[in-house]
Amino acid sequence: MNGLFVTIEGPDGAGKTSVLNELYPRLQLNAKRAIVRTREPGGVRISEKIREIILDPNYEEMDERTEALLYAAARRQHLVEVVLPALSQGKIVICDRFVDSSMAYQGAGRRIGMEGIASINDFATEKTTPDFTLYLDVDSDTGLHRIQQNRQFQPDRLEIEGLEFHQRVRHAYLKLAEENPLRIHKVDARMSLQDVVDASYSAIVEAYPTYFEE
Ligand code: TYD
Repeated sequence: MNGLFVTIEGPDGAGKTSVLNELYPRLQLNAKRAIVRTREPGGVRISEKIREIILDPNYEEMDERTEALLYAAARRQHLVEVVLPALSQGKIVICDRFVDSSMAYQGAGRRIGMEGIASINDFATEKTTPDFTLYLDVDSDTGLHRIQQNRQFQPDRLEIEGLEFHQRVRHAYLKLAEENPLRIHKVDARMSLQDVVDASYSAIVEAYPTYFEE
């Protein structure tokens, strides 16, 4: 495996999608290797099906461990079909969410605990770890406010959770960032979109100068 595995993480309302929509073309333009953008849960048909089940607000009865296992199953399929083949071909993979999301949302948000989530994800990924993780940090009030403002569709099963759930998610992300300072790079996502994109771009390119043009 000689590619570069980059993940992007953040609580709901951090603006991950808007940032990626600007960041990815810039990375693509300057990448010295083939680069692919993908997302979790999904990216391949089995995982997209699982995603539909997980995010459907009609499934009120879903048990939290079922939820965690479904995310891990979707992750496994996506890893095997998309991420690992690309990495073994030496490509740069930019993946929207990975195991850190399950640690934050299921481990802390749903209060399952980090150990259980780590162990099912170790099984699912055979301990594949990103080389670099960009964490877009936003406080939960701002995050929830942004979701409410930008809402075009029905909120998904995770977004309808209240402030305390989202606070637990954010605190878990901050703790993960603190515990993994070499892998996780935190960017303040309350800045303007352009500033967040610039900071994110510099962080990646400075960490991996051999993969990108200056
Ligand atoms: P998504 O449409 O990717 O939202 P976002 O644009 O915020 O990334 O929806 C994914 C939702 O699933 C999001 O609320 C986070 C949640 N999630 C988990 O709870 N656990 C996980 O392991 C993953 C990958 C996502």
